[in-house]
Amino acid sequence: MKNPGARVIELRKAINEHNHKYYVENSPEISDYDYDMLVKELEKLEQEHPELYDPLSPTQRVGSDLSKGFEQVPHIYPMLSLSNTYSIDDVDSWVRRVREALPGQDVKIVGEMKFDGSGISLIYEHGRLVRAVTRGDGEKGDVVTDNVKTIGSIPLELRGEGWPERFEIRGEIVMPWESFDRLNAERAFNEEPLFANPRNACSGTLKLLNPAEVRRRGLDAYFYYLLGEELPFDNHYDNMMAARSWGFKVSDAMTLMDSLEEVDRYINHWDTARRQLPVATDGLVFKVNSLRQQLNLGFTAKSPRWAVAYKFPAERALTRLRFVSFDVGRMGIITPVANLEPVLLSGTIVKRASLHNEDIMTTLDIHEHDMLYVEKGGEIIPKITGVDVAAREGGAEPVRFVSHCPACGTRLVRVEGEAAWVCPNKYGCPPQIIGRVEHFVGRRMMNIDGIGEETAAALYEAGYVTRYSDLYSLTVDQLLTIEGFAQRSAERVLAGIEASKQVPFERVVYALSIPFVGETTAKKIARAVGDIDTLMSLPAEQLEAIEDVGPRIAQSIIEYFQAPVNRENIERLREAGVRLAVEQQSTEGHTDLLQGKTFVISGVFDLHSRDEYKDLIERNGGKNVGSISKKTDYVLAGANMGPAKLEKAGKLGIPIIDENEFLRMIGR
Ligand code: IVH
Repeated sequence: MKNPGARVIELRKAINEHNHKYYVENSPEISDYDYDMLVKELEKLEQEHPELYDPLSPTQRVGSDLSKGFEQVPHIYPMLSLSNTYSIDDVDSWVRRVREALPGQDVKIVGEMKFDGSGISLIYEHGRLVRAVTRGDGEKGDVVTDNVKTIGSIPLELRGEGWPERFEIRGEIVMPWESFDRLNAERAFNEEPLFANPRNACSGTLKLLNPAEVRRRGLDAYFYYLLGEELPFDNHYDNMMAARSWGFKVSDAMTLMDSLEEVDRYINHWDTARRQLPVATDGLVFKVNSLRQQLNLGFTAKSPRWAVAYKFPAERALTRLRFVSFDVGRMGIITPVANLEPVLLSGTIVKRASLHNEDIMTTLDIHEHDMLYVEKGGEIIPKITGVDVAAREGGAEPVRFVSHCPACGTRLVRVEGEAAWVCPNKYGCPPQIIGRVEHFVGRRMMNIDGIGEETAAALYEAGYVTRYSDLYSLTVDQLLTIEGFAQRSAERVLAGIEASKQVPFERVVYALSIPFVGETTAKKIARAVGDIDTLMSLPAEQLEAIEDVGPRIAQSIIEYFQAPVNRENIERLREAGVRLAVEQQSTEGHTDLLQGKTFVISGVFDLHSRDEYKDLIERNGGKNVGSISKKTDYVLAGANMGPAKLEKAGKLGIPIIDENEFLRMIGR
């Protein structure tokens, strides 16, 4: 076997290259699976050889659950802001001013996107990332290196050549629309407050003390400013192109321009073309290209004279309010929603806009049939920003918040210290019950496919599922009475329900919809208590001893298990065979059926996850390895197994088995 030190270096280099191809160039060269295998091999070698530890190894991007909080450091060069304009004319006069200040000189201008995220400063020494610091107050910022390391497109070690021994690069950490939409959909589902725009989501994410969660949220970063004593070129554009060759993501929109006409064209083009970009932008930035000219122009107290930001106008539309409706969420929270005459805004038709809560509704002072201003500038969720009072109809009444639940008629109560009104009829209010069933079956909870909002509602209305434990007595015949179900789809749902009995206890706790118990807290609680009976009997002080559990959550858990309907639900889950305790890491289930056999797992599976198969191989005495060789005994193959693997296994005559065959081998 190769010297492990050399293999580790080889693997790190290969993984860094694949990261760059995937995150920066958007053109991966290997499958996710093959990539995972390289990472696994590296992880294993690093575990076996702790002396080879390197904080910048690609394995160190994953992020742990713990971060020490943020240290503050002063910036080497203060992080200034840009002077803003909102008109092309202002940009034109800036170009003229710059030219007048540099008489007789050829002035080139670089146009670039103004990314709407969080400014970041990265320090590199000897080609390695040493520190990442937020903008902070411009003078000093928070050291967020651990969080930044989780961003795949940021090079931990530079590629190429010609980088100065020490330099700083600035850019913007952004949350791409795709990540933003996914995060907000998840938060909506969990009834957590939504982020108004990717910028807020991004800065909130960077400040998290849990780098693993930061990684999950899918940030990205674009770079636009290189600083240091020994930069390779005497102009901004070439320096940025050099930075691109070292592995940084530099936007393709960055353009070198000679004339005012080009600047104007650039603005006109990006005004609409920016909507096709994968990330939020709130304007454009124009910079004088030559560093010598930049130096001559200098700075005002707050911003450089050699740069200007052109901000896109916020898009706003005026439309009539049809009526205000009130949505009831899974936790009973009532959200007022403005239902509007459809109006086109930033390329999408808006029909509904959240009014968030009573306070916001009252401040806007909305009356029946008012003409409302809807805005979207940078915000994905349309927002009502005002009322055209002059257009108000005579005699129109102010819209009042409801006093009773629109779904079940119960008098609403206001949560102490919060702006939210809540329907207290937790166990009798249909949208709350249906919402809990929907949550229960969710992918990150019991993972039961085929039951969405409509099916959950139909099952409730038919009287088949009036609490989540009813799912375990659901029959094919019952499902067949629901619109859209046929024999096969009904059987599939039942198979999903059956499989959900194997879902680990941590996820069951999350699935229960205990108010304020989110996914991470559920995990911590499950691991701390071990089983449901302990959880149901712990007094507040002992609950509060669990990490992340404060008095509010402790009280919520106690109230939850005081309700007879929930205790009954738990008993029925127990009878159904749902896991109500954490799995013991005992010798239980261990055999030597696979003793001496070596497996390679490839592809995606239906019955168990890849990790579960890995675990099953090991529990039964077998060995699991990353790549196919002469020593491999079986390839456990799921769907989409890579053609190269298939060919290799064929050449070496290694049997390829599917998951059913494998499960038979271990007597399941
Ligand atoms: S240059 C001294 N270029 O906007 C000037 N900034 O209002 C340094 N920003 O703090 C900034 N895109 O966070 C520059 N292409 C771009 C930018 C950009 C976004 C942010 C940055 C800065 C703020 C200034």
